[in-house]
Amino acid sequence: MNHIEVLKAVRLRSNCSSGILDGFLLQDGLISLLPRVVDLVSDCDITVIAAGGIVDARGYVAALILGAHGVCLGTRFLATHESFAHPYYKQKLLEYNETNYTNVFGRSRWPGAPHRVLRTPFYTEWRHFPDDENEENQPVIGHSVIHGVPKEIHRFAGTIPNATTTGDLDCMVMYAGEGVGMIKEILPAAEVLRKLIEEAQQIIQQKFSHV
Ligand SMILES: Cc1cc2nc3c(=O)[nH]c(=O)nc-3n(C[C@H](O)[C@H](O)[C@H](O)COP(=O)(O)O)c2cc1C
Repeated sequence: MNHIEVLKAVRLRSNCSSGILDGFLLQDGLISLLPRVVDLVSDCDITVIAAGGIVDARGYVAALILGAHGVCLGTRFLATHESFAHPYYKQKLLEYNETNYTNVFGRSRWPGAPHRVLRTPFYTEWRHFPDDENEENQPVIGHSVIHGVPKEIHRFAGTIPNATTTGDLDCMVMYAGEGVGMIKEILPAAEVLRKLIEEAQQIIQQKFSHV
């Protein structure tokens, strides 16, 4: 991977999880990509934040060891009491283990911006949605209020179900990172944070205090 590809990978990595693992960019995962990015920017004053598939203290510590200054957790915080995701979507985050990197959803609004989604029955059935089609000419399958504005949701739109959404939720996009299979309960956000910090401290003490 050359420098431009690495930087593209960094951008993709921050855009909803790790498309690179699905072969989009030479199958690089965070464990190999992160040290390379850290090396690449070592002579600049750049803070490296690792994102994609980190849901607990093990991932947090691993990212620190690989050279990240910090981590960004998306899906883990989606599955919290405070998140504005629809309760049905939160429930699906607990039920599903598998995700796919795809551009099936939201092609018209965000062209060329694939993202990772839950492998739901709807996605599985439509994963080969023809490249020349998009959400614009698709039927309306639901409604949401977004930033106070009522919106129609077309099939294949990139709009996830939020707490106000009504309609056919099973056919809507549900973004999720690769670590979704490790999320077993909806927790308060503060609890996620507390566990992340305390358990990271324990791991560091247990594994590295003798070094
Ligand atoms: C529901 C949802 C919506 C997201 N929306 C965006 C977005 O609009 N722009 C963006 O750059 N990243 C977006 N992300 C990516 C997150 O900022 C973050 O990089 C990613 O979720 C980290 O991977 P993880 O979910 O495996 O922790 C979104 C993630 C989720 C789960």
